[in-house]
Amino acid sequence: MIEKTERILKKYEYSDSKIIQVLTELQKEHNYLPRENLEYISRRLKVPLSKIYSIATFYAAFSLNPRGEHLITVCSGTACFVRGVSDVLKRIEDRLGIKAGFTTADNMFTLETVNCLGACALAPIVVVDGEYHGQTTIQKVDAILDKYQEETDAEPEETSH
Ligand code: FES
Repeated sequence: MIEKTERILKKYEYSDSKIIQVLTELQKEHNYLPRENLEYISRRLKVPLSKIYSIATFYAAFSLNPRGEHLITVCSGTACFVRGVSDVLKRIEDRLGIKAGFTTADNMFTLETVNCLGACALAPIVVVDGEYHGQTTIQKVDAILDKYQEETDAEPEETSH
């Protein structure tokens, strides 16, 4: 795990001005930024851990907590709230069996809420893996989750010969 982080650091020539690129690759690798790896980066680049954390928390793309394979973001801003996003969120929570801010036990889905995605005309909005779904309803959310869950179920298992 640390070897890969070392490789990433090498790729960016141990430059403290390339921390964002380093963190981006680390996030891609693990789907979040593990503390152990951030501490390693801090030591190797001689950059205070607090500075790395402030970068990691500034950019929404970075996560300090483990994330599932699929990220579902529900907008809880005013326009989405007025147009009934609470019912949509409740449906997703019920179907996944988790509350917003958590990841399913099988690590497939992480559910998050954000305050306005800046596309209020499409309210209420749900974003799944970066894909925007506007004017969502419980029925639409059911169809989206069905699709993702079918794909997950259909993933071929490795067979040994
Ligand atoms: S309130 Fe949801 S996009 Fe603005």
